Amino acid sequence: MNIVLIGFMGTGKTSVAKRVAKELDFKYVDTDEEVERVVGMSVPEIFQNFGETRFRSEEAAAVKRLATEDNQVIATGGGVVLNPENLVALKANGLVISLTATPEVILERVSRRNNRPLLKVENPLGKIKELLTQRDSLYKEAHVVIDTTNRTLPDLTQEVVGVYRGYVARLEPEKLWNKYP
Ligand code: S3P
Repeated sequence: MNIVLIGFMGTGKTSVAKRVAKELDFKYVDTDEEVERVVGMSVPEIFQNFGETRFRSEEAAAVKRLATEDNQVIATGGGVVLNPENLVALKANGLVISLTATPEVILERVSRRNNRPLLKVENPLGKIKELLTQRDSLYKEAHVVIDTTNRTLPDLTQEVVGVYRGYVARLEPEKLWNKYP
């Protein structure tokens, strides 16, 4: 079984996933990194050279591959929820946790790096709000939603680990046997 972090850009998926993986001795994986590895280009380069459609199909292929492995913390790209099949595959073998933050906090976090092609627009805050409105109901399909606004990384890590332990403890024994034969 995996722990899967979904949520908008800048909600802390990558940072939290790395720490949770370390704490639980799970493997850290990231759908964006998997796509970059397979295509041999960075995400902005893929968008620029081939467009978003190609990126989304590579992303779906990465999700399919990663979802079949176990004991991973999977950080996903913010748009992974746009394809319903992605969420089905991730939920089938994982506890899916959605991270959220306010648009202003998201803008502040993503402004630190120049690697989000979808936000390279004149009014990034407006774009963030627009995309959040489109995606909000999709992010809520997670098993658990955690607001990361005003939270520290160690604190969030402990919360995710706690949610995971509680989830595993409630799983039916047969399911656990199937997962760890
Ligand atoms: C995207 C989010 C990015 C990356 C791509 C598209 C999105 O991932 O997959 O730029 O559509 O929200 P992060 O959420 O890790 O920044």
